[in-house]
Amino acid sequence: MKRDSYYVTTPIYYVNDQPHLGHAYTTVLADVLARCQRLFGRDVWFLTGTDEHGQKVQEAAQKLGIDPQTHADNTVVRFQEAWQRLEIRNDDFIRTTEPRHKAIVQEILQDLYDRGEIYRDEYDGWYCVADERFCTEKDLVAGNCPECGRPVQRVRESNYFFRMSVYQDWLVDYIQTHPEFIQPDYRRNETLGFLRKPLQDLCISRPKTRLAWGIELPFDKDYVTYVWFDALVNYVSAIGYRRNAARFAQWWPAIHLIGKDILTTHTVYWPCMLKAMGVEMPRTIFAHGWWLMGAAKMSKSLGNVVSPLDLMERYGVDPFRYFLMAEMAMGQDASFTEDAFIRRYNADLANDLGNLLNRVVSMVGKYCAGRLPAPPAGAFASGPAADLFKQVAAAARGLQAAVETFTLHAGIAQVIEAVRATNKFIETQQPWAQARAENPGPLHATLYASAEALRVCAGLLMPLMPTKMAELRAALGMENPMTVNPDELAKPEVLKPDTPVAAPGALFPRIEAPRPGTEPKSASPAAEPKAASGPGAGPGSLPDGVVSYETFAQVQLRTAKIMTAEAIEGAVKLLKLGVLMGETRRQIVAGIALYYKPEDLIGKTVVVVANLAPIKLRGVESQGMLLAASKGECLRLVTIDGDLSSGAVVK
Ligand code: MSP
Repeated sequence: MKRDSYYVTTPIYYVNDQPHLGHAYTTVLADVLARCQRLFGRDVWFLTGTDEHGQKVQEAAQKLGIDPQTHADNTVVRFQEAWQRLEIRNDDFIRTTEPRHKAIVQEILQDLYDRGEIYRDEYDGWYCVADERFCTEKDLVAGNCPECGRPVQRVRESNYFFRMSVYQDWLVDYIQTHPEFIQPDYRRNETLGFLRKPLQDLCISRPKTRLAWGIELPFDKDYVTYVWFDALVNYVSAIGYRRNAARFAQWWPAIHLIGKDILTTHTVYWPCMLKAMGVEMPRTIFAHGWWLMGAAKMSKSLGNVVSPLDLMERYGVDPFRYFLMAEMAMGQDASFTEDAFIRRYNADLANDLGNLLNRVVSMVGKYCAGRLPAPPAGAFASGPAADLFKQVAAAARGLQAAVETFTLHAGIAQVIEAVRATNKFIETQQPWAQARAENPGPLHATLYASAEALRVCAGLLMPLMPTKMAELRAALGMENPMTVNPDELAKPEVLKPDTPVAAPGALFPRIEAPRPGTEPKSASPAAEPKAASGPGAGPGSLPDGVVSYETFAQVQLRTAKIMTAEAIEGAVKLLKLGVLMGETRRQIVAGIALYYKPEDLIGKTVVVVANLAPIKLRGVESQGMLLAASKGECLRLVTIDGDLSSGAVVK
């Protein structure tokens, strides 16, 4: 990685999972770090993606009666849509079923095999189907898998092994001499603890008789690659490893953000793989903690998995992103409760930040006819305005340091402290009293300095709340509101005097604390669909035939472009369509043959129900449904008015 480059990754998520709060946290964290680094003027590459091979995908596809690739294509959209809605600006999204990835995994395997780093051996051991891994006898907990606690099976088979054990001493030494390599330090100690036991060689193959859904070993077509060996390679295959040396050198080594659940694979397997490949180590592997639901672990079996999308709908994207970043001390576990959310939202966003904007706008309106006054000469050289700006500039430096040291929460707290200090500055300067004095200088200094402090704080919070902070900056007359020039953050007197200042409406309306058993109330626009259904209109009390917004929102409507259309033999009413929805292709069988000729459909952008369970019509699989309007003898497809790329959300 060049000095000014910053390459940050998230784990690639299992494609058939539903995106939840845990996935959202790592992804928002990577997005915020990436946006901060861009703000500080660095070149950034941010990678996320999906892990698409392995037993779980194969089994889920089997249950649905579809092939695993189709299943992955259908489910990957859930992540892509979730990240779009969470304002995630990743530079690339890698899927491990893409040819660009599979080819690199095979080249690495062949190379390691040719150099004797991979060998074949007979293996007899305990295997956990759920975790797709072998466990040693002494690791078993009461005869069950030490990771997930489920029963293991005795499996005897011939397999391929990576000589990981030879790297044990080297790895211990590397970790001890590179403190920035595994962070936080308690996770480094955990890995070193693991390395106190002899390191085993790693079984990197699965016989196709047991698992067919994987990357075939290039030197033995009866086997596929172990899913972790395949998945970890995404971090290098996505940036041109073995394909584009200049590109690879520009970004590597990476900063890997992971959850503490996948520490061993990232801090032991991956470094040994890279060492054998002759590639430099990642710069940092940072393992964050877990989001707990109240005091309990969030898990599917406990039925307490929080969908980030539900929370976002209720509170808005920006406050949700802010809460995730401000509430979790990076590295440690944190507890998610709506109470905690509402408390933090009201304290930091409604009372401090939103209130500061209201005060600045209303005072400039009242005392300066809505235009920003010019500060008196020298106001930022010494005196109260200069002191305030010093604190604000320190917050900018603090945030920058926090991003480097993975203590983002502390950096955010410093920015909110600067917001509070600005509110306090207004109280001590008493502009309402200054306005009565003959000399307007002190009043203008107070108002201008408050606006300047707000400008810097809004710029610093832009990576967390891109939309709200753009609105705030627009209120101060800042141009190009979606980006912040890094120079703006360090020096005072950037705002142009005489700029009209106008509030965009309440930026963060207070949320009333919920009474037990009720939904919290907020004037936030994101909450409006619920508020609009009126008091007492919960799902239980809806009139017959009326669905709640939540029920409606479960139907995923997306735009899709028709690429192919053909008749189906023996079915006069049906056409088989191939459509493109963003990056995924789907096959849809539609009963429109009496109304449209196949050739007239090609190129049309239509609306598709994207999350409908697949069905077979006349033996042909249909993966979704087109929307059409019909009356009497006439049927017309619902199409898009104007230009919009396929895969867009319709709501
Ligand atoms: N596919 C592997 C990763 C391969 S990376 C080469 C995988 N996927 S996963 O879908 O299970 O995602 C795991 C990641 O989700 C965790 O490492 C963490 O980043 C995030 N989280 C999942 N649950 C979480 C919480 N309850 N809290 C915080 N984050 C957690 O493992």
